[in-house]
Amino acid sequence: MSKTPDTPVAMEDRKVEDGRLYSPSAARNRAAIAEVFGRVLPARARVLEIGSGTGEHAVAVCQARPDIRWQPSDPDPVSRASQAGWARESGAAISAPLALDLLTGEAVSDLAPFDVLVCMNVIHIAPWAVAENLARLAAERLQPGGRVVLYGPYKEGDATAPSNLDFDASLKSRNPAWGVRDLDSVITLFAEAGFALAERVDMPANNLLLVLSSPETR
Ligand SMILES: C[S@@+](CC[C@H](N)C(=O)[O-])C[C@H]1O[C@@H](n2cnc3c(N)ncnc32)[C@H](O)[C@@H]1O
Repeated sequence: MSKTPDTPVAMEDRKVEDGRLYSPSAARNRAAIAEVFGRVLPARARVLEIGSGTGEHAVAVCQARPDIRWQPSDPDPVSRASQAGWARESGAAISAPLALDLLTGEAVSDLAPFDVLVCMNVIHIAPWAVAENLARLAAERLQPGGRVVLYGPYKEGDATAPSNLDFDASLKSRNPAWGVRDLDSVITLFAEAGFALAERVDMPANNLLLVLSSPETR
């Protein structure tokens, strides 16, 4: 289930050191993200992250929550090398990255069980099919009572932040299949997969962190 993306994976310049990438946006948002994850993740959660990018968010969250285990992934080999570099510094909490590409929609057959599916800043920089396959992965592979945590910008009709409208236009100019997603459409997509919105957290720079949860039994 791996493929190298044919479009740039990031819309920012990243410093690199020993294979580890440093993302300016992750430097700005990781403390806020770690703070919220520290609160919303269940005890000893086994987390699968899709589109982990540099891997810095995994490090920040695992430092905040030493009880959890984190499986990063990305279709991009340079990103995976960075995730592996950061993971080496983080002890056993972060596993070696997996090459997962949600554009293919292929079933993921050899995944360990996990409790939480995390996806940050991916569904707007990929075709809508990636969001659909994310919801399907959650429905098929999360344990009962599992949670999905999404982070990123959203459109909310007239309430959409102007910066997110500008970002949407910029994304679409690069790739017409990309774009800031409509919040209601995302919530509906996950509701159809069995995940109800449990919490919405307003984050810096007009981003949202969404926690979607499934019933204890399905
Ligand atoms: C803007 S970066 C976000 C990285 C990181 N999650 C963060 O918030 O800093 C988008 C990431 O999504 C990954 N990605 C793009 N298409 C994907 C797909 N089809 N399946 C999984 N990940 C994908 C890219 O390789 C890239 O690492």
